[in-house]
Amino acid sequence: SAVKDLAGRNILVTAGGTREPLDPVRYLGNRSTGKMGFAVAAAAQARGAHVTLVAGPGSLPVPEGVDCIRVETALEMREAVLRAFDAADAVIKAAAVADYRPKERAGQKIKKQEGSLMLELVRNPDILKELGEKKTHQLLVGFAAETEHVLDYARGKLEKKNLDFIVANDVSRKDAGFSADTNCVTILARDGVCTEHPLMSKRQLADVILDHVVAALGR
Ligand code: C5P
Repeated sequence: SAVKDLAGRNILVTAGGTREPLDPVRYLGNRSTGKMGFAVAAAAQARGAHVTLVAGPGSLPVPEGVDCIRVETALEMREAVLRAFDAADAVIKAAAVADYRPKERAGQKIKKQEGSLMLELVRNPDILKELGEKKTHQLLVGFAAETEHVLDYARGKLEKKNLDFIVANDVSRKDAGFSADTNCVTILARDGVCTEHPLMSKRQLADVILDHVVAALGR
């Protein structure tokens, strides 16, 4: 069993993708499965933390002892995250949150019609950015899934969202990012320190991320 170096800590984790409904049977979604966030939740729980996991739809088993709040949309995720935020010592935001949602949610199934259908999308709130503006003592860890200029974009997000760490992964690789069991990342810290990690399982990577969190909580 793991060293209980997160005993007495509240860790808030988000996982999975959000679904943005168009009508009662359809939604806009993304390829996130929740594996990375669930792995972080399991690792934090094993290290003695009280873990709140805010998760999008999915079939992954909730790790034993983890307090899981199920949500569907980005707006629901925002509500759940804000409710748990004050009590959190660290937030690890692994969820793939939709940047846009359909402006209207039709009450009935949208019927086929002649010609094309126009959908209007409106912006969702950026939850992590809001936490960055609101934070007092909380450590904030974000993820950056990119297909190009990975480190430049990650550094930009870290600054723009006022994060302590950002986990940058290149999702154009087959063995990293969405739905893979492994991941290959670079972790950038606020102070400029940057650590490159080899390909490893998401569960192992979860412990590497938490090592950074534990070190920062101790400072
Ligand atoms: O800017 P981008 O969406 O790539 O940022 C990625 C990070 O921001 C992830 O940690 C993700 O969980 C978080 N995020 C969020 N709310 C959004 C979009 C992204 O919390 N609406």
